[in-house]
Amino acid sequence: MPKVLILNGPNLNLLGCREPNIYGSTSLDDLETILRSNIPPGMQLSFFQTNHEGEMIERIHRLIEAPVQGVVINPAAWTHTSVAIRDALIAINTPLVEVHISNIHAREAFRRHSYVSDIALAVIAGCGIQGYAFALETLNQHLKG
Ligand code: DQA
Repeated sequence: MPKVLILNGPNLNLLGCREPNIYGSTSLDDLETILRSNIPPGMQLSFFQTNHEGEMIERIHRLIEAPVQGVVINPAAWTHTSVAIRDALIAINTPLVEVHISNIHAREAFRRHSYVSDIALAVIAGCGIQGYAFALETLNQHLKG
């Protein structure tokens, strides 16, 4: 049974009330419920969100001891700033899909660069929260070979 960890970075705890014109009106808890009810058959999901970069890095490191078969990550603002999160993701050597709710290429110039995209199996941006479901499907196909 493939295990997949869904990681969400800073400010994504405010989903649903934060800039709803950009990020929509679904809360992070509701997103988790939606994903759990549409999970690809046989997949086991876990979720983690933090506003603290060190906590995110340590959660990623725990995957060395307790591995999963796939990671979905919305690194949020750390996408554009964090070599440390990139390095942690490289260290775990696990297929990952990068998700952005908004189309980061259609916004401010500083959002166009990602420290994660070139180490990801796939990048999904601009599909709203549906992007997370697409990411799970992408991992599912990849893991099935
Ligand atoms: C985001 C895009 C980032 O630029 C931003 O900092 C976020 C959310 C998205 O999901 O569209 O916090 O990752």
